[in-house]
Amino acid sequence: MGSRILSVESLSVKYRANPREIHALRDVSIGLERGSSLGVVGGSGSGKTTLCLSVMRLLPKNAVVESGRILLDGVDLLSLSEEEMRSVRGKRVSMIFQNPHTSLNPTATVEQHLLEVYELKLGMGAGEARQSAREVLREAGIDHPQDVLSKYPHQLSGGLAQRVLIALAIAQSPEVLIADEPTSALDAVATSRITSLLKKLCDRRGMSLVMVSHDLRTVLGLVDEVVVMLFGQVVERAPADRLLKRPLHPYTKLLVSAYRDVFWRGVVIRNGLPSNRGGCVFLESCPHPLDVCREASPPLFEAGCGAVRCFAYAR
Ligand SMILES: Nc1ncnc2c1ncn2[C@@H]1O[C@H](COP(=O)(O)OP(=O)(O)OP(=O)(O)O)[C@@H](O)[C@H]1O
Ligand SMILES: [Mg+2]
Repeated sequence: MGSRILSVESLSVKYRANPREIHALRDVSIGLERGSSLGVVGGSGSGKTTLCLSVMRLLPKNAVVESGRILLDGVDLLSLSEEEMRSVRGKRVSMIFQNPHTSLNPTATVEQHLLEVYELKLGMGAGEARQSAREVLREAGIDHPQDVLSKYPHQLSGGLAQRVLIALAIAQSPEVLIADEPTSALDAVATSRITSLLKKLCDRRGMSLVMVSHDLRTVLGLVDEVVVMLFGQVVERAPADRLLKRPLHPYTKLLVSAYRDVFWRGVVIRNGLPSNRGGCVFLESCPHPLDVCREASPPLFEAGCGAVRCFAYAR
């Protein structure tokens, strides 16, 4: 732990879409220390996947990076050529995509997927590649790799497919692993197995982890720090234990009360994007808005070992 391996600084990304543009990320900053883990939590459409795809430089064609920097060990990934990025993707930063089955090629077996990495990307000979494929599957918690290697993606259960994706993601020993909702298609037992596997892998390999989820339950107990996203903004950043004990932003309070299975009176999240242009994105749902919240978008205020985007914490 100590030095920062990944920093996203003031990143703004929009999508060109008819009839209007969608501002998916607005001035988003996150930081990941080497060997540590960060949870990114937020509702559907809050910009989590856009953030991950930005780091991987895999945004769709209609996306525009308006401003910001993405520093991997001090080097701005946004300034690299496509060829330079190819030596970053998978090798230094790897991503587990949101849907396990659509991330795998339906016409290739598990073994073919892994051999492509070991033979084509890492240049191993056939024997060494086969051996490495078995070992990485074992590391991903598949005790009998020979039963899985010849299978096609549609023959795998959700949990097994996710383990294969994890094996593919760690095959090139990346320094940073980004897991975008790796458990959203799984039941509670499989979810807990996959999250503990990720924790074990990160501890064993010294890998840094960005764990994305719409559910606080999935990240607490796994990560050191959490950022909460709402409508493309980071509204709170805090150590995981502080976030759970003392959430500051009203939206985070709502997430924590849902986590504790407690009904928190006063907040009803409106659907869709916020209607107000200049004010706080949470204004229409906030139980205690101030006058200033209608007029200006709050910056992140330092608070409680972290930061919160709420004028109630302005000093
Ligand atoms: N290719 C695209 N073209 C246009 N708009 C897009 C595109 N991809 C995402 N968006 C929009 O950008 C916003 C952020 O989407 P994103 O997928 O990053 O959210 P998310 O937090 O990952 O959501 P989920 O929890 O549903 O996966 C949403 O309003 C979404 O509709
Ligand atoms: Mg997503």
